[in-house]
Amino acid sequence: MSVSYNEKEKIFHLTNGRVSYVIGVLPNGQLSQLYYGKAVKEVSGFNRYREGAFCKAMAAFLSTDDPSFSLDTTRQEYPSFGETDLRDPAFELIFKDGSHISEFRMAGYEITKGKPSLPSLPASYTESDDEAETLSVTLKDALSGLSMTLLYTIFENEDIIARSVSFANEGKDGIRLTRAMSLCLDLPDSNYEMMQFSGAWARERMPYTRKLVPGFQGIGSMRGHSSSQQNPFVILKRPETTEDFGEAIGCTFVYSGNFLAEAYVDCFDTTRLLMGIHPQNFCWLLKPGESFQAPEALLTYSSCGLNHMSQMLHRLLRTRVARGFWRDKERPILLNSWEAVFMDFNEEKLLEIAKKGKEAGVELFVLDDGWFGNRIDDHRALGDWKVDTRKLPNGMKGLAEKVNALGLEFGLWIEPEMINEDSDLYRQHPDWVLATPGRNRSYGRYQWVLDFSRPEVVDGIYDMLCKIFLDANISYIKWDMNRSVTECYSVAYPPEQQGEIYHRYILGVYRLYEKLIAAFPKILFESCASGGCRFDAGMLYYAPQAWGSDDTDGIERLKIHYGTSYGYPIESIGAHVSASPNQQLGRSVPIETRANVACFGTFGYELDLNHLPEEEFKKVCAQVEFMKKNRRTLHHGDFYRLKPPYDNTTAAWMVVSGDKKDAIVGYYKILNQVNRGFIRLRLDGLDENARYEIEGLGEFGGDELMNAGIVIFDEQATFTTDPATGHQLDFWSRLYMIHRI
Ligand code: DGJ
Repeated sequence: MSVSYNEKEKIFHLTNGRVSYVIGVLPNGQLSQLYYGKAVKEVSGFNRYREGAFCKAMAAFLSTDDPSFSLDTTRQEYPSFGETDLRDPAFELIFKDGSHISEFRMAGYEITKGKPSLPSLPASYTESDDEAETLSVTLKDALSGLSMTLLYTIFENEDIIARSVSFANEGKDGIRLTRAMSLCLDLPDSNYEMMQFSGAWARERMPYTRKLVPGFQGIGSMRGHSSSQQNPFVILKRPETTEDFGEAIGCTFVYSGNFLAEAYVDCFDTTRLLMGIHPQNFCWLLKPGESFQAPEALLTYSSCGLNHMSQMLHRLLRTRVARGFWRDKERPILLNSWEAVFMDFNEEKLLEIAKKGKEAGVELFVLDDGWFGNRIDDHRALGDWKVDTRKLPNGMKGLAEKVNALGLEFGLWIEPEMINEDSDLYRQHPDWVLATPGRNRSYGRYQWVLDFSRPEVVDGIYDMLCKIFLDANISYIKWDMNRSVTECYSVAYPPEQQGEIYHRYILGVYRLYEKLIAAFPKILFESCASGGCRFDAGMLYYAPQAWGSDDTDGIERLKIHYGTSYGYPIESIGAHVSASPNQQLGRSVPIETRANVACFGTFGYELDLNHLPEEEFKKVCAQVEFMKKNRRTLHHGDFYRLKPPYDNTTAAWMVVSGDKKDAIVGYYKILNQVNRGFIRLRLDGLDENARYEIEGLGEFGGDELMNAGIVIFDEQATFTTDPATGHQLDFWSRLYMIHRI
């Protein structure tokens, strides 16, 4: 791995031997993008890939010395608007005199081992300096005194480049930064399809693919959180790219607030990929002496398909974005109270549920919403983080002790960013709400959003939570967030800083996480936002797992997890077996299939196991045992998508352990088909020279399994026909357990 600078040709080359990223210094001192793709050894001649060898009609050029030099026709690293480039820019500024033109020129660079952290922001990291190398290039705008630093880190083990940018005002006047994308990638052609992961509450992260066309196309969120409508992860892939073949570039935003991801195709068919904080309503005042750090974006390049791209991203997010005590540990199998009792519980009822969980082998009991203040329903009490002793007369400590005495760890739900109008907190601090003075305050689930842009609000919530966390033995926290931000305004900031509030809000969320993690390093955090409405790489830095969706139906989860797996490790997807018929859909799915889907995520149950027939309870016990035995392979192996579920016929995926000794295939029949054809499922990721045993099926060659595949007969399913009628059922599934001989 190396980052080098060729002084003579003025070319930077970042490479780890598998990918190359090549940057040139333009005649005017700006940076051009020369190449990004499969590694090339020698790049000294790469200025030949700079466009603009002849003058383009209508293009403005920078000087009469060279009428072919227009930034409008030059691929760049971090372009501005208006200095001949008239495409969508990476950044925009407004100076004191109202002007917006800047002239950034390279002022210096530095190549260092390892990777610096980003102040107050989540980011990928290294554990030793030989894991990565970082290039930082500083550019200065002489007239204003503003400087910008572009950071590029290339990782040794994964084909991932981390990018970010910071601005520092070294001039005399305030400057308004109105756009500061974290990443700009100018590509030489537009023969790409863009994949995005879109949805809504309870149907998050469904893949959509569209061909790039001239103009801008993209996704974003202005909801104050990354959202379920659009996820801050996109892929540019060649039209012919499949799971196992062809080029793909993944782009992940390590951030949880408003974002924009955009591909802009110009009239010469070059593509500009931009990702960063959404510029709408963003305006950061940089006073003299101040600086602004934009969040990090990760670029992942694969020349051999989407599975490989996802696997690299999975490993990096799992081991070099997620942190702390729980990062590499097997995650506890949990039992959550929400779909079992909602807010209607007392200590006795909870203990009954926990006890049955213990009998099944579960390891952690989680008390969800409803335990604090006067929380009799969702109209009140958010912000009052004190135990409701009517429900829990022995306090949280008493309950936790009893749960611990059963041999279970104890976990708790919180929603720290929110406040209800009917709460003591609101009565004490009516100004702690994000709201625009004199305007209506909209409700979302009857609640308002706390003004986390104010440090005293974050500290106030921290103090309340600390008391609870210190009082009871809590080993897990589910951090929920159940509404979007509206009427965004903070009374604590002057008018000229109101464009900072969305970002300051998220910085406040990160600060509270950081404070709690520092004080309680052994607590396992699971993030949640009405299910998966804030499922992003930024959150993974604080909480290594995230509740995947409020839709707990096994078949819907198959679709949600399949889409999520493109950008996120399956270990990060909180997945629970819930009651049947399912509470969101009313659909009945066999308990085997519910578990066969959930086991590819961070596994748990969310129902009252006391209500299960004895036969099903026995199956639950077996599932828990299976999970304990196989969770390391399932969560730390390489994940392969084999057959998407979106046509409602069948779906399949598999996990292969790092040493290729063990593999687990999940095969799912969704809706039955009459007179169906012969199904052959080709596997992936095995050792082609090894022999494997598939439990119950016999011996196969690795090459045979990957090229000829396995034949799927419904009879192999553990649950295939309705015992009463003999009819084949929808929604059966099977796990194939594979071991190298
Ligand atoms: C939304 C979450 O996604 C659910 O799992 C549950 O925790 C409820 N909130 C509680 O209010």
